[in-house]
Amino acid sequence: MFFNFFKSKKCIEPQKLFYSNDIHSHILPGIDDGSPNTDVSIALLEAMKSWGLKSIIATPHIAEENFENTPQSIKNAFEKLDRRMLDLGVEMNINFSAEYRIDDRFRDMLENDNLLILPNNYLLIENSFVQPPIDLKNIIYELQLRDIKPILAHPERYGYYQRKKEVYEKLFNSGCEFQINLLSLAGYYGDREKETALWLASKGFVSFVGTDLHHFGHVEVINRFLSSKEYPAIADKLAPIIKNNELNI
Ligand SMILES: [Fe+2]
Repeated sequence: MFFNFFKSKKCIEPQKLFYSNDIHSHILPGIDDGSPNTDVSIALLEAMKSWGLKSIIATPHIAEENFENTPQSIKNAFEKLDRRMLDLGVEMNINFSAEYRIDDRFRDMLENDNLLILPNNYLLIENSFVQPPIDLKNIIYELQLRDIKPILAHPERYGYYQRKKEVYEKLFNSGCEFQINLLSLAGYYGDREKETALWLASKGFVSFVGTDLHHFGHVEVINRFLSSKEYPAIADKLAPIIKNNELNI
């Protein structure tokens, strides 16, 4: 009985992440729905370090609906965190870009070439969770005309795509790459998001995995996931197909 109890436990020793460059997180202080201040930012960074991450590109939201960030507001928040890291002797390779909601504000920024590009000419974009942008195909094309490669953040979380999986294939084949969330693989958003993330991986449609880290609740979920019995098999499946570690960070 005692033996069986341990045998059936769902935990193993915490493992490291299967990639070292993270390109999606909300750890810059005070500018979106992520970290509220530098102390929380530092604690989140320490958690990311403990998972084996070596380089982090912070990606605050830019969305006209609720987060009217600009390249300057993001740079200011980054510099605030950078100074605090220097003061405390926290070492981590960190830089910044943004997670762009496809809206009219984004269309303006695209037109004015006022975008914070990720390494290797990528750009992280996200849809509204309510409905897809009607001109997504055109946006992808406009980005490609500028030699910018779009990465759609967490495609597995959009309910309107989960129900029409053929859209994923069309988007992927049009040159839009996908970044799934570690939190989806952990089951944080629900079974459908997890199943869709694994389906995307099985189809070879996943180019990047990201933490999309906002707060300590997410840290706990990821810690548990890294200690779960299912983690090693998921890591083995994704590690060979993702490009996180190919980025020139
Ligand atoms: Fe995000």
